[in-house]
Amino acid sequence: MSHKRVAILISGGGSNMVSLLESMTGDHAARPCLVLANNADAGGLAKAAAAGVKTAVVDHRPFKGDREAFEAELVKPILAAEADIVCLAGFMRVLTAGFVSQFEGRMLNIHPSLLPKYKGLHTHARALEAGDAEHGCTVHEVTPRLDDGPILGQARVPVQSDDTPDTLAARVLVQEHLLYPAVLRRYAAGDRTPVLLG
Ligand code: GAR
Repeated sequence: MSHKRVAILISGGGSNMVSLLESMTGDHAARPCLVLANNADAGGLAKAAAAGVKTAVVDHRPFKGDREAFEAELVKPILAAEADIVCLAGFMRVLTAGFVSQFEGRMLNIHPSLLPKYKGLHTHARALEAGDAEHGCTVHEVTPRLDDGPILGQARVPVQSDDTPDTLAARVLVQEHLLYPAVLRRYAAGDRTPVLLG
C-alpha cells in the first residue's frame, strides 16, 4: 500500500504535531513527509527532527505583510515533499484564498473552540466571558474563510467554575491530542464522517 503523505504546518511548540506524528504508524493510511514552521524558534521543529521527520522553515517576517509573497515561498517545501494532505497544527498565519485553493479538499486545521463559536483568537477567554457550560476544539477542512469549512470532528469539555483561560486551554489541549489523530486517521482513509468526542 502506498501511504498518503502528510505535511504539518506549525508556529510554536507543536504538541498537536507530535500527536499526529506518533499516530501515523501501523495500518494508518498516511505517513508524515514534512514539518514546516513560519518561525525558526518554533519548539516543534526539534521534536519533529528528533522523530526523524524532515523539517523546513519559511519565516514570514521578511515579507512584511505581503502574504502572497510569503505563501509563494511557503508552498515550495510542501510541493517538494509531495504532500497529499496538509495539516495546520497551531499554525498562526492567516492564509489567502489563493494558497488554500491549491490544497482544496486536502488541508485540515485544528481550532480551539466548538466552531462555529469563537473563530479567531482568545477562544478560551471568550468562552469563559460568555459563561459557556462547555467548550472544546474542532478539526475542519480549510476553506478560504478563516476557521470555517466542513467540520470533521469535535471534542467537548466541561467548563469549571474556577477555570481561567489557561486551565481551560489545558483541558481542551488534552482533547486536541485525541481528536486530531482520530480525524486524520479517518480522513487519510477517505472517510469524512465527523469524529465526535466527549
Ligand atoms: C492549539 O491549541 C491549537 O488548537 C491552536 O494553537 C495551539 C497550538 O498548540 N490553534 C489556533 O489557535 C489556530 N488559530 P501546539 O503548538 O502545542 O499544537
